[in-house]
Amino acid sequence: MKISFTLNGKEVTVESPPYARFIHILRERFGLLGTKEGCLQGKCGFCFIFLNAELVPACMLPVFSAFRGNVTTIEGFRSTPEFSDIEKGFLQAGANPCGFCSSAKILTTHKLLEENPSPSEAQIRKALSGIICRCTSYSCLVEGVKAAALNRRQRDHGSR
Ligand code: FES
Ligand code: FES
Repeated sequence: MKISFTLNGKEVTVESPPYARFIHILRERFGLLGTKEGCLQGKCGFCFIFLNAELVPACMLPVFSAFRGNVTTIEGFRSTPEFSDIEKGFLQAGANPCGFCSSAKILTTHKLLEENPSPSEAQIRKALSGIICRCTSYSCLVEGVKAAALNRRQRDHGSR
């Protein structure tokens, strides 16, 4: 089956069995290795991508679901000012996600701030709960998201 979609701003077409996992299409056909393969069961969050502005686990997505859709991976998001706000915020707070979970944490933070520019600590913790990480401090990460939110508000409005 030929499946066309927009990937990080470019029109692409792949030939694939319709039920192939989208994560494998991204990594193997397009070399987009920032989307990480973890549990392959929709539980760890490491493979999060945006499909039509929704945050979804690419491991659970059959490739046909992307037909005519708009897909953004961490590689596409990296060039945006919102990425810079988050990257800077994480650095400011000393939150230092590993290479395995950083794309998931960054994209999840973006989704949260799109919906809620000033999230509370509880809202941040809830948003991040879809990512399994037992190796780093969630307090630092929460502070990182708060700093990212502030960076974004300052850039958007010049306000605190
Ligand atoms: S690899 Fe997709 S949620 Fe774990
Ligand atoms: S899995 Fe990356 S810091 Fe825990």
